[in-house]
Amino acid sequence: MRTPRVPPPRPALLLLLLLLGGAHGLFPEEPPPLSVAPRDYLSHYPVFVGSGPGRLTPTEGAEDLNIQRVLRVNRTLFIGDRDNLYRVELEPPTSTELWYQRKLTWRSNPSDINVCRMKGKQEGECRNFVKVLLLRDEATLFVCGSNAFNPLCANYSIDTLQPLGDNISGMARCPYDPKHANVALFSEGMLFTATVTDFLAIDAVIYRSLGDRPTLRTVKHDSKWFKEPYFVHAVEWGSHIYFFFREIAMEFNYLEKVVVSRVARVCKNDVGGSPRVLEKQWTSFLKARLNCSVPGDSHFYFNVMQAVTGVVSLGGRPIVLAIFSTPSNSIPGSAVCAFDMTQVAAVFEGRFREQKSPESIWTPVPEDQVPRPRPGCCAAPGMQYNASSAFPDEILNFVKTHPLMDEAVPSLGHAPWIVRTLTRHQLTRVAVDVGAGPWGNQTVVFLGSEAGTILKFLVWPNASALGTSGPSVFLEEFETYRPDRCGRPGGSETGQRLLSLELDVASGGLLAAFPHCVVRVPVARC
Ligand SMILES: *[C@@H]1O[C@H](CO)[C@@H](O)[C@H](O)[C@H]1NC(C)=O
Ligand SMILES: *[C@@H]1O[C@H](CO)[C@@H](O)[C@H](O)[C@H]1NC(C)=O
Ligand SMILES: *[C@@H]1O[C@H](CO)[C@@H](O)[C@H](O)[C@H]1NC(C)=O
Ligand SMILES: *[C@@H]1O[C@H](CO)[C@@H](O)[C@H](O)[C@H]1NC(C)=O
Ligand SMILES: *[C@@H]1O[C@H](CO)[C@@H](O)[C@H](O)[C@H]1NC(C)=O
Ligand SMILES: *[C@@H]1O[C@H](CO)[C@@H](O)[C@H](O)[C@H]1NC(C)=O
Ligand SMILES: *[C@@H]1O[C@H](CO)[C@@H](O)[C@H](O)[C@H]1NC(C)=O
Repeated sequence: MRTPRVPPPRPALLLLLLLLGGAHGLFPEEPPPLSVAPRDYLSHYPVFVGSGPGRLTPTEGAEDLNIQRVLRVNRTLFIGDRDNLYRVELEPPTSTELWYQRKLTWRSNPSDINVCRMKGKQEGECRNFVKVLLLRDEATLFVCGSNAFNPLCANYSIDTLQPLGDNISGMARCPYDPKHANVALFSEGMLFTATVTDFLAIDAVIYRSLGDRPTLRTVKHDSKWFKEPYFVHAVEWGSHIYFFFREIAMEFNYLEKVVVSRVARVCKNDVGGSPRVLEKQWTSFLKARLNCSVPGDSHFYFNVMQAVTGVVSLGGRPIVLAIFSTPSNSIPGSAVCAFDMTQVAAVFEGRFREQKSPESIWTPVPEDQVPRPRPGCCAAPGMQYNASSAFPDEILNFVKTHPLMDEAVPSLGHAPWIVRTLTRHQLTRVAVDVGAGPWGNQTVVFLGSEAGTILKFLVWPNASALGTSGPSVFLEEFETYRPDRCGRPGGSETGQRLLSLELDVASGGLLAAFPHCVVRVPVARC
């Protein structure tokens, strides 16, 4: 049994505490929450464990769920599982249990399973894990499954969950291995995906397919473009799609591998380069580091991005909130930083960074050595170059060899809005409510730990030009994992891994997904 305990301070932790304490008194202490929910409160809230209408438990002998993705569309929740897809109504908000109204089973066929087994994969991996679950139009879901290491995608009816039309290949749209992180997004009928394209998971891509424009990808096997990336999130903003990820930094001349967090962007209307340079590849791919650090005499960086929210409007600014942690071999610490999308975009208009030779250090490219029009910009009809394929080779070559921006994106206020170093588990999920409180004008941030503990904070984003944040108040802490429903007794701890955390404003609740269940808990307990 797990017993709550605070880990004994390790020397490195003490060092961080000293650093934080020295940070102009910004984070000298971490007060406890104003309230902690009583231990039994959770038993009142609804849970989805894979049972059909009117049943509290799944049918006898049914496998535990193995949830991969959840998608909420208005008052309906779609749950992508292993070999199954569920449709669950969230109405009425007072219901005491969550049941599926529809269930669709989509198994890999025996020949795909055989090939998967022959390639040396375990039986448990050679199944169909739903890794992409998107709304394609009002009536259609787009679903991809790992399909026994031979990924497939198809349209499904939002009402009946029946497949519509043919399967298409999931290559570059969906990972082969269910353990791999991937992101996917539809915009203007085009599918933007970030994943690995091969069985061995060596070739990482940002890929665009479907829709009216040509299929495009990032340059293959070029460590300037990607080095062991882990994709976290994607958002559409203006004429670009932005991808949030972390990767090994190649711009540091260190011997050890250092992970940094990044944002990359591509133009939605990119059609690829010329037949000579970057054909069928992005001409607009650029990336920049995200700076989530605690100021002070010696700067402390939170480098490992775990999750990012969608773009929300805060104080009139388009903002994303991201949660970062320290590397797993380091002291456990987490921080929430806010980034203004206009500042993200500004960094992509700034200087480029380059390494002149494999031995030299990375330096900014002098502005007079940057060709015009600016590499990475979006071509458009009416401009000098009306399509990206018309750009001169000089520009295409520059962007191919200079995907990294010199400056890091500053966080709003140049400091994290929330820092936690004394939590038992790493914080890995974030959700934000910008319309909270009795007047709908307060901002509440929910942080979810690996084990499903939710920490709720009130923040005061400062609408002034600097966009700093006032002090945050740690309102409460509560659990979302229900050991009685969400895991077999004696089951492994891995069932208690928070997969996603989503705000469901209409029901005043949070939806927390774990491998074996989805739990709905109210955002406030009074
Ligand atoms: C979701 O709700 C909006 C607003 O009521 C509506 O316009 C939209 O069609 C709904 N989406 C689906 C897929 O039902
Ligand atoms: C999937 O649905 C979209 C429209 O929602 C349609 O354009 C496309 O052809 C469909 N694909 C297949 C394979 O049926
Ligand atoms: C799609 O793939 C699944 C799994 O391999 C298979 O059962 C189904 O028949 C396929 N559907 C079509 C229309 O090809
Ligand atoms: C782009 O410009 C070329 C001439 O420079 C013209 O032939 C072509 O039709 C234009 N395409 C579009 C989409 O405007
Ligand atoms: C990150 O931001 C801090 C605070 O503004 C700044 O001092 C530091 O130089 C920045 N780091 C990078 C890599 O830009
Ligand atoms: C929210 O609105 C109420 C009533 O208009 C006002 O008293 C309060 O100061 C506002 N709070 C914030 C954080 O803007
Ligand atoms: C907001 O920022 C301005 C400028 O930095 C500062 O003067 C003001 O005190 C801040 N307000 C709050 C509530 O933090």
